Amino acid sequence: MIRVVCPGSFDPVTNGHMDIIGRAARLHDEVIVAVLRNLNKSTLFTVDERVEMLQEVTKGQANVTVARFDGLIVDFCLANDVSAIVKGLRAVTDFDYEMQMAQMNYNQAGVETLFMTTNPLYAFLSSSLVKEFARYGGDVAGLVPPPVLRMLTERLATD
Ligand code: PNS
Repeated sequence: MIRVVCPGSFDPVTNGHMDIIGRAARLHDEVIVAVLRNLNKSTLFTVDERVEMLQEVTKGQANVTVARFDGLIVDFCLANDVSAIVKGLRAVTDFDYEMQMAQMNYNQAGVETLFMTTNPLYAFLSSSLVKEFARYGGDVAGLVPPPVLRMLTERLATD
């Protein structure tokens, strides 16, 4: 039984994340999407809202569950019998930091990281750019799942 984790802030989840989660779910028995409750970073959505939106958009994928975590992702992996961390790599700009984290996580806890190349359709996509464009009237409808678009529109109207 191979259980992997897709960790992130998911503020909010984008179609790029959805692509990686879906592909990871086809390759492994179980995928846990682990949402970081990052106390040092201000987020548009609370951790509960991010968990809820991920549950909504992954509900059709039977082997995907959603959890939250604090602290180190390797501690989450060890506590939940997770074999590997799955990450999407968009471009060389992601590579240095991702490699450093992967090597640190392996060095410290023996936890493996598997990289998937992002679908080129989403290579430019990030949660930060989605938020910035949505805030200033950009059309992000093709970049996030429909329930996320609704939550984003509502939140930005009152933000
Ligand atoms: O979506 P993000 O914010 O780019 O995701 C980054 C994340 C949450 C995957 C990464 O920051 C992480 O794993 N944070 C948990 C803390 C941790 O384990 N830090 C050491 C990494 S070597």
